[in-house]
Amino acid sequence: MSKVLCGDALEMLKTLPTGSVNMCVTSPPYYGLRDYGIDGQLGTEDTPALYIERLVDIFREVYRVLRKDGTLWINIADSYAGSGKGGWDSPIKNGISQQQYNPKAFNMPKKWKGIKAKDMIGIPWSLAFSLRDSGWYLRSDIIWQKPNCMPESVKDRPSKSYEHIFLLAKSKKYYYDYEAVQEPVAPETVARLKRAVSDVGKYANGVDGQPMQAIFLPRDHSKERTMRNKRDVWTVSTNSYRADGHFAMYPERLIEPCILAGCPVGGVVLDPFFGSGTTGAAAKRLGREYIGIELNPEYCTIAEKRIDEVIPQKDMEGYNEKVE
Ligand SMILES: C[S@@+](CC[C@H](N)C(=O)[O-])C[C@H]1O[C@@H](n2cnc3c(N)ncnc32)[C@H](O)[C@@H]1O
Repeated sequence: MSKVLCGDALEMLKTLPTGSVNMCVTSPPYYGLRDYGIDGQLGTEDTPALYIERLVDIFREVYRVLRKDGTLWINIADSYAGSGKGGWDSPIKNGISQQQYNPKAFNMPKKWKGIKAKDMIGIPWSLAFSLRDSGWYLRSDIIWQKPNCMPESVKDRPSKSYEHIFLLAKSKKYYYDYEAVQEPVAPETVARLKRAVSDVGKYANGVDGQPMQAIFLPRDHSKERTMRNKRDVWTVSTNSYRADGHFAMYPERLIEPCILAGCPVGGVVLDPFFGSGTTGAAAKRLGREYIGIELNPEYCTIAEKRIDEVIPQKDMEGYNEKVE
């Protein structure tokens, strides 16, 4: 079932059956930031509006392919208009990107009507609102905080150290296994809650003999509160792992919670901008199937080779069912 489809995201999505995948997690090329060295790549449109329009069309097709209870998780970051500095990373000096270097990407305009040079373009929220307008339920803006973000040479604003992950759903009610991604409550909080419970008798009749105006009795949280619902700021270091020749990978650790919450074991995870196949690697490791779509055939090969080497968690020594 798991497969990599090599070709344009929109065209390949059209070949997939309606309602056939559980979830989609992906990171599209950011606007005007990198050159993936191939004609037809996303991110080099003449205006931000055209870029958003193209993404909305692609995600409309993802909407069709998702089951009714499916979710879409999009990792995206903003771009700056035409300072002439930053942005537009050169293709890596060797390997496939250099061979397939597409100069079109570097000749894009650097400012647009209503957006001045140096302005933030506001891509993430423009995309989120456009997707909401096209029918998606916009459910969460998760902040990916990067403790080891790239240093920037800017001296007139703080350095960027986060990106967004938008969680969108096809329907009002959708599959979301919150228990699979619960996080531990801090030990100090557990201790404080236990103290609060043991203090109940002490303060119920008033403090220092004075009757209490309003008696606030803490609930007994001591049993259920060792775990809590996952928060929406995720601190994850950027990759130390580099697949040969791909320079815009997200870390597996970043998308593991998306897969655990969004797809049951044995379900299908879709990524229409597959790159080096991180989504496929994480899906396989966690016992899910995957469908990856990637325009650059050389990245397809890299992804397939990388995923081949992944050992599913259940086959690993010492695996414990509770990991799920
Ligand atoms: C940000 S990267 C994804 C990286 C991936 N998440 C990983 O961890 O390796 C975006 C990918 O989208 C691909 N891409 C660009 N335009 C595309 C299109 N029209 N259809 C399919 N893939 C495209 C690029 O070649 C690039 O590999």
